[in-house]
Amino acid sequence: MKVLVVGSGGREHALAWKLAQSPLAQKVFIAPGNAGTEEEGQNVPIPATDIARLVQFARQEKIDLTVVGPEQPLALGIVDAFQAQGLTIFGPTQAAAELESSKVFCKELLRSAAVPTPEFHIFHEAEAAIRFLESREDMPVVVKADGLAAGKGVIVCSNRQEALEAVRRIGIEKQFGEAGNRLVIEERLDGEEVSVMAITDGRTILTLPPSQDHKRAYEGDQGPNTGGMGAYCPTPVVDEQTLHWIEERILVPTVHALKHKGRPFRGVLYAGLMITRQGPKVLEFNVRFGDPECQPTLFRMKGDLLPILWEAARGRLQRVDPPDWEPGAAICVVMASEGYPGPYEKGKVIRGLEQAQELENVKVFHAGTARQNDQIVTAGGRVLGVTARGPTISAAKYEAYRAVKLIRWEGAWCRKDISDRALKYI
Ligand code: AMP
Ligand code: GLY
Repeated sequence: MKVLVVGSGGREHALAWKLAQSPLAQKVFIAPGNAGTEEEGQNVPIPATDIARLVQFARQEKIDLTVVGPEQPLALGIVDAFQAQGLTIFGPTQAAAELESSKVFCKELLRSAAVPTPEFHIFHEAEAAIRFLESREDMPVVVKADGLAAGKGVIVCSNRQEALEAVRRIGIEKQFGEAGNRLVIEERLDGEEVSVMAITDGRTILTLPPSQDHKRAYEGDQGPNTGGMGAYCPTPVVDEQTLHWIEERILVPTVHALKHKGRPFRGVLYAGLMITRQGPKVLEFNVRFGDPECQPTLFRMKGDLLPILWEAARGRLQRVDPPDWEPGAAICVVMASEGYPGPYEKGKVIRGLEQAQELENVKVFHAGTARQNDQIVTAGGRVLGVTARGPTISAAKYEAYRAVKLIRWEGAWCRKDISDRALKYI
């Protein structure tokens, strides 16, 4: 089979790496890919959002299966465009992808399906949101822009003053553009955040082991939000019984509700959950693998991913057996450019990649990298996802940081405490 992976980050490198190992994979293409994906297959210089050219490429190369990494092409309707040409593609249609691309759609669906989620109110204009905040008691809330805003359209507020300011930024100044045309104001929850991903064809659900991302830039969950500074899998925050509950009370009703609304879902359903004292509640749904959660998750997966995605894309997921997992845990430490998540420079030469890759049970997934002649240079904010496996979380952590120490470029940094949130549960 010929496979095309769409995207260019660490998640796509992990997908290409795993799919390339399949005995069924004759060739893997990655569009546009990075310096790491080149090791797993062939990069194709087409941006992930250039759907017309991707369709053309897939037809020309007779691609059997396309796997979409990021949310933007899904929200733009890449799956609809491929299916219209009779091409098999793993991911949700544009209508089903609204679960991620519209927070208003997501919250209304969750309410209709009685899926636990924070209390919320929807506003079509900023003035109404301001009146609402001024009329009720001062309490911590979260203000969210309806549309996709690269993870930045969510403002967590401690009091009314901050919430009013957030409404102004999103709804009046339109800092996130049209994404702010509608607003959600919801109750702010406390608890531990986890990610639960499931592969589904709209009928059968294959729940993956739970994982935990680290979204803040600095140790101890301080500093600005990022695209994710590291993740580990499985997380002991969610035990087997809770995972079962999440499947029954959150994932299954969401898949059913989407089907009922005429938007059947195929692809990865990713629940961003807060584990509260009243149980797990949905903060958001994503419609793709999490980045960086995908990296440690796939690094632990035994067996062949290709038939799973292939059958899911064709609505026959019940035909495949659930995969086995390496015992123990895996962790992924993101190494970033100086200045990230703010402005940063690119083009720094990365050294030590081979030495790090020589370590057993380590895989360095590339995110923002590029090849320049014989050298690999930085080309993004999140540069590498250094991923390691071990019999325990702390063993995996030790291995990952041993590999991190071997890699260097000017200004490289990472969080030193990835996976430490697990410590109080084990
Ligand atoms: P979202 O894109 O909706 O997941 O929001 C991004 C981040 O904001 C989440 O990962 C949480 O850390 C935080 N967040 C979102 N909603 C809430 C909430 N209701 N209570 C507390 N934190 C939240
Ligand atoms: N790790 C968060 C995300 O993929 O959205």
